[in-house]
Amino acid sequence: MTAPDLFPVRPEAAAAAWIKAADYSRLYQRSLADPAGFWREQAGRLDWIKPFTSVIEGGFAGDAQVRWFADGVLNASANCLDRHLATRGDQVALIFEGDDPGESQSVTYKQAHEQVCRLANVLKAHGVRKGDRVTIYLPMILEAAYAMLACARIGAVHSVVFGGFSSDSLKDRILDCQASFLITADEGLRGGRRVPLKASADRAAAACPSLKNVLVVRRTGGKVDWVEGRDLWYDEEMAKVSPLCEPEPMGAEDPLFILYTSGSTGKPKGMVHTTAGYLLHTAVTHRDVFDYKDGEIYWCTADVGWITGHSYIVYGPLANGATTLIFEGVPYYPDCSRFWSVIDKHKVNIFYTAPTAIRAVMREGDSWVKKTCRASLRVLGSVGEPINPEAWLWFHDVVGEGRCAIADTWFQTETGGFMIAPLIGAFGVKPGSATKPYFGVRPAIVDHQGQEQQGACEGALCIAQPWPGMARTIYGDHARFVQTYFSAFPGKYFTGDGAQRDADGYYWITGRVDDVINVSGHRLGTAEIEAALEAHPKVAEAAVVGYPHDLKGQGIYVYVTLNADQTPSDELRRELVKWVRQEIGPIASPDEIQWATDLPKTRSGKIMRRILRKIAANEQDSLGDTSTLADSNVISDLIANRMNQA
Ligand code: PRX
Repeated sequence: MTAPDLFPVRPEAAAAAWIKAADYSRLYQRSLADPAGFWREQAGRLDWIKPFTSVIEGGFAGDAQVRWFADGVLNASANCLDRHLATRGDQVALIFEGDDPGESQSVTYKQAHEQVCRLANVLKAHGVRKGDRVTIYLPMILEAAYAMLACARIGAVHSVVFGGFSSDSLKDRILDCQASFLITADEGLRGGRRVPLKASADRAAAACPSLKNVLVVRRTGGKVDWVEGRDLWYDEEMAKVSPLCEPEPMGAEDPLFILYTSGSTGKPKGMVHTTAGYLLHTAVTHRDVFDYKDGEIYWCTADVGWITGHSYIVYGPLANGATTLIFEGVPYYPDCSRFWSVIDKHKVNIFYTAPTAIRAVMREGDSWVKKTCRASLRVLGSVGEPINPEAWLWFHDVVGEGRCAIADTWFQTETGGFMIAPLIGAFGVKPGSATKPYFGVRPAIVDHQGQEQQGACEGALCIAQPWPGMARTIYGDHARFVQTYFSAFPGKYFTGDGAQRDADGYYWITGRVDDVINVSGHRLGTAEIEAALEAHPKVAEAAVVGYPHDLKGQGIYVYVTLNADQTPSDELRRELVKWVRQEIGPIASPDEIQWATDLPKTRSGKIMRRILRKIAANEQDSLGDTSTLADSNVISDLIANRMNQA
């Protein structure tokens, strides 16, 4: 099938859109030329306890201190709940769809408000105060959203850790931010299986002296160990407290949350997002990109443990008074039509997922989709990795029956909200392109010399001026923030991604250009996986690269040099996979482990990953310059033993 280059805006979408074709260029130009004026007007979408007078301070030069609406005062939880009570108190705010298709629940804004107030009071009762860090390690249940908003309500800084991370990863993240309080569940449920969250939390907590309490949601009723004096049952605590809690007045630049993400070095970075700029950015982008209309049912399938879940399940949608669906399960349980039957069950209008999920259900065949109706769908969204045109077209033609707009949205943990994404009523889309920048976002494509390119070009993707939702720092390490994002191309934020811009001004993200890999839309640092492997007593050295993988986008390819007294075996390979799962989590499971007697290194001992990437991708004909290698025989060995198929 050959796809048309451009799918124009559908007339019915154009007529009703918040942002129309005629508006985009004018508003976009204005947002760049007069950011303070533009964002001052946009900020009217939030409720302020005390209005701001200053819109933007600072910039990317020097130590990259940026402040938005700095003297304004507001509360994020009040913006997501309280201000809707008068107009839509009885409207459904959250729909919970359980792992088991027989379990679902709808919660109105009034009810959500009460739950959040109670939980905020529970936190206070146990000594959590403004500025304290609270780690949240929960499955995809309503309590995850309540927990985030309860922290926001009292000014505590939440740090959500993905429930699929291991106890070690959880421990590192609690230690880094010195959290005093942990919220978890007895067990999670995914695809009919139980996930022992409390057991992981216990192992982590034992090594975290800063933790005073662990609050446990009863999800499955499974048996758990209990530490008297430390552990608290959620339901018991919630019953003891008042259903009212005044929101804490927060400075616009007070931290709202920390979210850890992988970088090129071993240690995950705690990205710090602040209150007003983040909330405004997520609210406006959620409304404009999906063209969200009052009363629509919106479903984002991400986990709240990632930025997509923070921004586009919780904060953006609730700030807009939307109905947002929280899904506990997986696309293939109880069968491969789960996504589509949930859409029919709750009459979902906007469905937002990841290319890896689309590819996974696509390969099961169209019949799983076609046996459902999906008449409610209006917009389909994609995020997390470049979407291949084949998956895009299947999403458009089969899932959306050719009548839904497709929004491929590019952003990052660091950017807070959408940066490059279509405004579905304003301009057409091209399969595989995240399209054009959102208001206030000035992308710059830069070559190796740091020169900004003009017109159609390819290079490193940078952003040339501050935007409200950007992370302000790395928790506890501002120097690393400056070094990571602002040193490669001084004066610009470097995204770590490569991109092309075509002659129509559309952007095509080509993937990471650093040592980060993107596995099923999950971002992993190769250095993190290497460090985990090298901690294994039988491993001398490990090098990890990404390679093209049909389903996951990128797979994890590992080269392992064993200690001299070790012999490679399938059993050892299984042991190493298990080890990485325990050290980091199942998402970091190696797909391939190749035994390597040696690794290609420069004379100064640096591993030449470029060569390892080529061999893993089976592109050994284009290895490039190998003249700087200390020992060029290493390469022929590695090629001969690729995937251990010698
Ligand atoms: O490489 C880009 C890819 O995901 C990275 C950001 O990962 P993370 O911070 O975990 O956030 C994921 C969800 C926003 C980016 O640097 N990425 C994200 N969205 C897209 C994408 N690549 C191509 N197209 C996208 N739409």
